[in-house]
Amino acid sequence: MDSTTAAVRALYERFPYPHGGPELRVGFDAAMVLGLTALQRPPSSSTMNVLDAGCGRGVGLIGAASVQPEVAFVGVDVSRVSLADGRATAAALGLENVEFHEVDLTTLDGLPVPAGGFDLIHSSGVIHHMEDPAAALRRLGGVLAPHGVIVLMVYAKLGREPYARVTRAIDAVVSVGLPVSERLGPARALVTGLAALNPAFAEAAATSEVEFVDRYLHIQECAFDVRQLYKLVADAGLEVLRWCNTDAWSVDQVPAGLIREQARAAAPADRDTLIEALTGPRVFEVYLVKSGNVLRPPLSGDAAAAARFAVSSEGNFELTTRSVPGQVRHESLRFRKASGVVIELQGVLGLAGLCLQNQVGPFTGHEFYQAILAQGASAREVGFALAELLRLGLIVRPSQ
Ligand SMILES: C[S@@+](CC[C@H](N)C(=O)[O-])C[C@H]1O[C@@H](n2cnc3c(N)ncnc32)[C@H](O)[C@@H]1O
Repeated sequence: MDSTTAAVRALYERFPYPHGGPELRVGFDAAMVLGLTALQRPPSSSTMNVLDAGCGRGVGLIGAASVQPEVAFVGVDVSRVSLADGRATAAALGLENVEFHEVDLTTLDGLPVPAGGFDLIHSSGVIHHMEDPAAALRRLGGVLAPHGVIVLMVYAKLGREPYARVTRAIDAVVSVGLPVSERLGPARALVTGLAALNPAFAEAAATSEVEFVDRYLHIQECAFDVRQLYKLVADAGLEVLRWCNTDAWSVDQVPAGLIREQARAAAPADRDTLIEALTGPRVFEVYLVKSGNVLRPPLSGDAAAAARFAVSSEGNFELTTRSVPGQVRHESLRFRKASGVVIELQGVLGLAGLCLQNQVGPFTGHEFYQAILAQGASAREVGFALAELLRLGLIVRPSQ
């Protein structure tokens, strides 16, 4: 183990990350993410295999495993304290589809790689704590199946400026040479004292201890801008499939007129750099693939009937009803995406939403047509609804 990894391990054994219990995170739904690509799993494949590289206490891993019992999950980390914590939580929940292993991502020694590679690899907030993030990402690409997807989260430099500002203040006052556990008390006292001065200090003062250490006192981290992110991915021999949260990177959210038109006409890296400058996200979350794999092409009209769809697991329906004499009237129906975008479902989309809101599991295009036709829509309207719901991301085409 190199000296950086040893120091990072010691930090995360003293301050296991993150705080809190299992949660459903970006890209947790394996079938949904794998359904995004043109290259699909071979039809003979059995269980889907998912790796969480640098799983920490397993908050995202256990959240994903607990709602996908048919998928096999492996979490690896160097922090033995975090791993023990994750194992205990998984055991308490009775999960049988998740394993934890102590593996250093700078070597991958001891990683149990399934035949053909992992279908999906998550790595959230990990490689920017390593000396050579591109080499780490390249190694992960080496254990990814040809059709596989990596869900990567790394720090975004511009959006983290407020955090960097707090760190600079702490470094100016609390000796950088001291161990983190000795810096913590004086650093917290400092930001509490400065909280009234600037919202960045107020935010730091209100942060939990573990988060505070991770954010402001880390011993090894780097951050990227959009162009550096694209370079990182290329240096690792991988390609960006798309942003996880396409809504946040859509030109439609920037002010109409000159800027939006400029963004639409720009090359992808220029457009994304412009959006980064305007919106300043704190992290970048991207889906990565191996060379040759691309986004799944749109469905042709004929193929839609036999195709399988599912309601996106990254959002919720919100139905508002009103009791009036003799009936309960539907006032409005919306789909609220995890990205924050709200889709108002009216007309034929409203009819489709009413049919889909209690849908459990995948359905075929044919079943969709039958259900909405039965509500009085025309075949043309149903075709429009299917295409529109796919475009808006309310329904997806999951992988088998
Ligand atoms: C900020 S935490 C993120 C934990 C988890 N991915 C999450 O999002 O909740 C970073 C994790 O990466 C792990 N890590 C850092 N360097 C590593 C390495 N070389 N090999 C394996 N894990 C590593 C740390 O131990 C820590 O648990």
